[in-house]
Amino acid sequence: MLMGAAFIAGTAVGRGYKQRDTETKISRMRFQVPLPLPPVLTPVRTDGQADYYEIRQRERRIEVFPGASTTVWGYEGLFPGPTIRARQGRRVVVRHTNELSHPTVVHLHGAVVPDDSDGFPTDVIVPGASKTYIYPNGQRAATLWYHDHAMHHTGRNLYMGLAGLYLIDDDEQQALNLPNGEFDVPLVIQAKEFRRDGSMVYDAGFTGVLGARSNTVLVNGAPWPRFEVAARKYRFRILNASNATPLRLALSSGHPLLQIGTDWGLLEAPVVSRNIPLSMAERVEAVIDFSVYAPGTSVVLRNLKDSGAMGEIMRFDVVRREPDDSAVPARLCTIERLAPEQAAHTRRFVFTGSDTFDVPPLVWTINGKHFDPDQALARPRHGDVEIWHLVNRKAYFVLGLLHPVHIHLAPFQVLDRNGRAPGAHDAGWKDTIALERGEEARIVIRFNSYRGRYLLHCHNLEHEDHAMMARFDVV
Ligand code: C2O
Ligand code: CU
Ligand code: CU
Repeated sequence: MLMGAAFIAGTAVGRGYKQRDTETKISRMRFQVPLPLPPVLTPVRTDGQADYYEIRQRERRIEVFPGASTTVWGYEGLFPGPTIRARQGRRVVVRHTNELSHPTVVHLHGAVVPDDSDGFPTDVIVPGASKTYIYPNGQRAATLWYHDHAMHHTGRNLYMGLAGLYLIDDDEQQALNLPNGEFDVPLVIQAKEFRRDGSMVYDAGFTGVLGARSNTVLVNGAPWPRFEVAARKYRFRILNASNATPLRLALSSGHPLLQIGTDWGLLEAPVVSRNIPLSMAERVEAVIDFSVYAPGTSVVLRNLKDSGAMGEIMRFDVVRREPDDSAVPARLCTIERLAPEQAAHTRRFVFTGSDTFDVPPLVWTINGKHFDPDQALARPRHGDVEIWHLVNRKAYFVLGLLHPVHIHLAPFQVLDRNGRAPGAHDAGWKDTIALERGEEARIVIRFNSYRGRYLLHCHNLEHEDHAMMARFDVV
């Protein structure tokens, strides 16, 4: 009897202690974990035609917070997945095996690929099966990413960890003397919600349709990490791989960021920005010159969209001096302008919510329709240039929300936003454009690569899953 009571008391105390211990670890975690870098995947084979990779999608328990265990789903069990490095003009073949217990789909975001390798939401890899995706890499150097795209479950699958980087390099970019090698650093930012015991919570808000909530900022899978840098220039490739958390990047020192690239590679000229909006699925490339700081200085990368814990992303600690012969030229490249006067068609896509008398009581639509994999909403002709007018129309009974509109297959250029010339952030080639509540933009796009079945959708993943997505066919 006594022993039993002592045992129970002992366990309770033990659990209480452990719980408090972990809680402390999580709340004090800021700027303690060193920034991890996703490993670069090695091909299993290469020949004159291509590099061949194999990826197993599997569940694993890892320590996101030291001392606490988190179940993740990862490409090769990694969180985020391994980075694939490709070269323009050289094909990449990736065989994915699904060792999870749910169907998955792999999409290479920003890639120009034949439709059977694009990851249509119903082209699933069932548990235990494999599928081979072929990526021609006929496109310019850019920071792309691969992620899950399964019908109705993209949000959950990506949240659990199914995302990784895919970097294409080319001669044009290599000829520049930008910071390179260990000074070319990817930052995959993901906002997620963790419980005190270290487990992730996938809570998609009001009946699952508003967007996943978050209380933690991860960079390359680590919570609010710190990164030791030399007092010199670094190139950062920054991806917002969050389900539903838009960011606005800025440095705590007040120094501006030098943006050199966007979703689809280099800008024509660098742009100096006090802050850079980065919505879900967008990428920016920015050069930060730490030589303006004395060793011993720390600079926080902040998210101006939030004033609380989510308002900080990571910290750079300047720890040493280092010679730097890299340079950012005033002119980075030449970008072909797509001519809107050549547009064969103008199409309008309205992104909005609509209420239903069903569960969920709200669905997201494009032109009043929710996603139907069997219906094409548009059929652009192969070879045509088109103007697409994208409209975020606020739904009358909920707060208007941001819709980051993403188009598969073909990159685009922004013609105007709300009838005015696009800002610096809309320059260059894009594959995703964030439209705030009530905003609209016109883009120019050209379908000169593959024919077939592709998608446009909102990249708030809960909006996408609740059905703000449409198929278009290039015919
Ligand atoms: Cu990044 Cu259709 O997705
Ligand atoms: Cu995509
Ligand atoms: Cu949306």
